[in-house]
Amino acid sequence: MNAPNPSTPLADLDEWELAHTQKDKDFRNYGDGVADRVRSFYRANHHNQTVDFVRAKKADFLALNRRQMSIWEAMEFLNTLVDESDPDTELSQIQHLMQTAEAIRADGHPRWFILTGLIHDLGKILCLWNEPQWAVVGDTFPVGCAFSDKIVFSEFFADNPDRQNPAYQSKYGVYKEGIGLDSVELSWGHDEYLYHVVKDHLPEEGLAMIRYHSCYPIHHEGEYSYLLNDHDRHLMSWVRTFNPYDLYSKGQAPPDVAALTPYYQDLIAEFFPPVLSW
Ligand SMILES: [Fe+2]
Ligand SMILES: [Fe+2]
Repeated sequence: MNAPNPSTPLADLDEWELAHTQKDKDFRNYGDGVADRVRSFYRANHHNQTVDFVRAKKADFLALNRRQMSIWEAMEFLNTLVDESDPDTELSQIQHLMQTAEAIRADGHPRWFILTGLIHDLGKILCLWNEPQWAVVGDTFPVGCAFSDKIVFSEFFADNPDRQNPAYQSKYGVYKEGIGLDSVELSWGHDEYLYHVVKDHLPEEGLAMIRYHSCYPIHHEGEYSYLLNDHDRHLMSWVRTFNPYDLYSKGQAPPDVAALTPYYQDLIAEFFPPVLSW
């Protein structure tokens, strides 16, 4: 098998999530080259996600000057992203979003929560602006302080230039105890980007689900608790409530996108203006 392309090692943009859905975390049993692809993906991610990289991406993308479009147009735009895996067995991006939202709806959660499920991955449109996969998806983690060894493939941080900067390698790094996650730089990806696009339009619990849903070291492993404040701990309980809908709704029957479209267009209009800056 050829070595995976370092900027697009994943055949499917969600392959990295296997680390969380499979009990066997050593990746030996995935077959089909997936272990090599996920390793290659995290090698690039952990090498490149530095404090300087995160700041540069924020300065660029958070200007939100690339496009003006509605939430629905962003869903259709994201759906043009074609993964290289078998299209007969994989869900489209819109199907993943609707499936997540439908699972939340079926459990009787509030409308803002359903809407959060619907939009939570729209930040993946970064891929359509030629960002490498490692700068869009994968687990996120704080930068500017010591990397936790509970981060998936933490051995690859050996190649991260921030490892050589003592200011970034103490327990607290550039932060203070209990500083609050809003003041902590996380590795750059689709979570942080979408948070800034939608932050004026959803309750803060929904915004936290969007902003931290890939931050498994914090919401799943309980690492970096010394950076959180009490409000973050409240928000993390909501992120953990959201997580199973993201990970485990994928096995269910594909949603009927056409039939569900009117319901979701009404839901979007209830919370969002007709056009947003992306
Ligand atoms: Fe996501
Ligand atoms: Fe997702």
